[in-house]
Amino acid sequence: MSQTPTFPTLRPRRLRLQANIRRLVQETTLSPADLIYPLFIRPGRDISRPISSMPGQFQWSVDRLAVEVKELAALGLPAVILFGIPEIKDATGSDNSNPAGIVPQAIEAVKDAAPDLVVISDMCFCEYTDHGHCGLINTAGHDHYDPRLPEGYLLNDATLAMLGRASTVHAEAGADIIAPSGMIDGMVAGIRSALDGAGLSQVSIMSYAAKYASAFYGPFREAAESPPSFGDRSQYQMDPPNRREALKEVAIDVAEGADILMVKPAMPYLDILSDVRQAYDLPLAAYQVSGEYAMIQAAAANGWLDLRRTALESLMAIKRAGADMIVTYFAKDAAAWLE
Ligand code: PBG
Repeated sequence: MSQTPTFPTLRPRRLRLQANIRRLVQETTLSPADLIYPLFIRPGRDISRPISSMPGQFQWSVDRLAVEVKELAALGLPAVILFGIPEIKDATGSDNSNPAGIVPQAIEAVKDAAPDLVVISDMCFCEYTDHGHCGLINTAGHDHYDPRLPEGYLLNDATLAMLGRASTVHAEAGADIIAPSGMIDGMVAGIRSALDGAGLSQVSIMSYAAKYASAFYGPFREAAESPPSFGDRSQYQMDPPNRREALKEVAIDVAEGADILMVKPAMPYLDILSDVRQAYDLPLAAYQVSGEYAMIQAAAANGWLDLRRTALESLMAIKRAGADMIVTYFAKDAAAWLE
């Protein structure tokens, strides 16, 4: 019987002896080309308002974008994802479909300043509705009211029509990729057919395919001014205990024509990322969300963690689990660190 070699023949530490050997056997790499930087855009002029729960992140007015995005492009970042804070919020989030709205203005400003930067538009209604939910809400007395559904229920199919309209407006303004983030059933198919119907078949869809109802979005609510005024998002976002269900959600979005899949959040959901990577060949994104960023920043501010090493390790871990690209508030710093 042949003996499988083991210690002392096998010594894995040999391959860790010097930096260049470690580089040769490094299995995962991280580069600025993997990173997507989120930008929050608000009305007004000459504004870069710090987001207190996300040190180093700002809400920008459109006129301040040019300088920022030129820097991002110069750092080698390939893409930004835009979140708009509109002037007016109403029950139907109508400003999301306004061709002169905050995101269309921002898209044009980014494209003017940095034409090669890929512009992704986060497609959701939570920033645009006065109730802060991600679509149309079943409300007694309103046109869409359906007495068979509970008061406060997010009306799925009416929301799909709104998503189609708003996506077309953002794509007409120059968005390269539409990223529906509301976990509305049928959102990818609805947006695809709206875009194609408007002659925008070249525009891609990056679907937040497996997005969980997560407490890690806490700081984002301040950044995007989008907290729900009642209830939470558990009617439409996934329940954190569910793993197999993520593959069902992803399968549906693949069938509906998603070009890029996303798992969100990232670090607490690396099992989901790995599952999706193994099951699908489509490009896969992960969103390192506001709470993940805030935790690392807070620990670093206390001197408990090394900011740079921890941030880069977190990004590497997300890539190792299977992400091709990462939406992260660390994108700008990481691109500079990776130079
Ligand atoms: C919805 C959206 C959210 C985030 C991205 N898109 C908030 C939510 O679903 O409640 C969260 C991002 C983050 O926490 O960094 N438009």
